[in-house]
Amino acid sequence: MRDIFDGLNSRQREAVEATEGRIRVVAGAGTGKTKALTHRYAYLVNVLGIDPANLLCLTFTNKAAAEMRSRISQMVHSGDYNDFVCTLHGFCVKFLREEIYRIGFPKSFTILDEEDSKAIAKQAMDELGLKRTEKTVKQFLTAIGKEKALPGYIQTYMLPGSIISDEMRRTSRLAGYVSRQMKSYALDFDDLMNVTKYILDHFADASEKWQTRLNYIMVDEAQDCNLDDWDLIERLSAKHRNLFIVGDPDQAIYEWRGARPDLFVNFAADRTIILDENYRSTPRILDVANCVISNNQNRIPKDLFTRKADGRAVIHFHGKKRKGRDGVDSLANPSSAFLGRTPQRHSNPLPQQLPFPRP
Ligand SMILES: Nc1ncnc2c1ncn2[C@@H]1O[C@H](COP(=O)(O)OP(=O)(O)OP(=O)(O)O)[C@@H](O)[C@H]1O
Ligand SMILES: [Mg+2]
Repeated sequence: MRDIFDGLNSRQREAVEATEGRIRVVAGAGTGKTKALTHRYAYLVNVLGIDPANLLCLTFTNKAAAEMRSRISQMVHSGDYNDFVCTLHGFCVKFLREEIYRIGFPKSFTILDEEDSKAIAKQAMDELGLKRTEKTVKQFLTAIGKEKALPGYIQTYMLPGSIISDEMRRTSRLAGYVSRQMKSYALDFDDLMNVTKYILDHFADASEKWQTRLNYIMVDEAQDCNLDDWDLIERLSAKHRNLFIVGDPDQAIYEWRGARPDLFVNFAADRTIILDENYRSTPRILDVANCVISNNQNRIPKDLFTRKADGRAVIHFHGKKRKGRDGVDSLANPSSAFLGRTPQRHSNPLPQQLPFPRP
C-alpha cells in the first residue's frame, strides 16, 4: 500500500489534510489537481477511518471517473471504494435506484441512451404529424430538453395519477414524448438530474438521508459545473458543509453548454489553496500559457511555474478550420512546441505582445 503523502508537494499535502469545511483548490493544468483529490480520498479512508459509503467524489466524464477510481484503488483497500466515485449523472442513477419509488417508478427503471431517445422522438413526431428527418429529430430532442429545463413537467406528466390524454399527445411535443417514456418507466439524461432534484425538493426525509450520508463531497474540474450541478452539490453538502472543489477557471471551455466558472470564482470558501507547480510542460510553454490566460476575465490569479529544463521554442499557429489537423502536421516539427487555440469563450483574444515569435 502506497504512503498517502508519497510524491506530494507541500500545497498538495495541505489540500489532502484540509478535510473540514468548504475548501477550494485552484490549479492550472498538470499541477496535480486529480492527484491531490485522490490522495485526499485515501487520507479520509485510511487515516481518518471514513467509510467510502460516506464519500462522494465527482467528476465530469466516465473516462475521468474511471481514471480516478483506478488511482484511488492503488491506495485504498476497501472493497466498495468506488461506489460513489462517479460522474454527477452516475450519482443521480445511484440516488434514483434508491429513491425513485417515491414517485411511483420501479427501482429497475430504464435509462434511455441517445438512440432510444431518438426512437421515442420519432414515434411522438409521427403522432404530431411532424416530418422526421435526422435533422428534425435532433431539433425535436433539443426542444424537449429546453422544455424539461422548465419547472413543472415532472408534476404534470410523470407522477402517479398524471393523465396524458390522446388530445395532449396529439398537440404537445412534451406530452407525446413523455407519455412514451412512461410506458417503460424510462428516464433520459435530463430526467436523471431533474427527477433527483424533484425528489430532494419534495421529500424532506430523502434530502435529510442523503445529506447525512454524504459526510464529504469532492468535485474535480468544478469549473465545468453548470447551474444545476452547483445546485445539487450545494444541496447535498448543506448539512456537513465538507465540500472540496478543485478546478481552474482558466481552463473553462464549456460555457457554451452552460458551465458556470464564475460560480467557482465566487465560491464561498473557508480556505483557498493554489497549486501552481506544473509537472507536464517546459518553462517556455508555461510562459506562453501564463501570458494568454492573464487576459481571461473572471479568474483567480495564479502563476504557473515548473522546475523542468527550458525545452523547445514555442510557435504560434492560428488554424483556419474549426476541425481537422489543418497544418498541425507541418508545424509541429520536432524543433518547436505547438500552441493550439482552445474555444475559451470568456477569454480575450490573444494578447498584443506575445512572448514568442510568430511563424
Ligand atoms: N508532487 C508531484 N510530484 C511529481 N509529479 C507530480 C506531482 N503532482 C502531480 N504530478 C504528476 O503530474 C501529472 C499531472 O497530475 P494530475 O493528473 O493529477 O494533474 P491535473 O492537474 O489533474 O491535470 P489536468 O489538468 O490534466 O486535469 C501526473 O503525471 C502526476 O503524476
Ligand atoms: Mg485532472
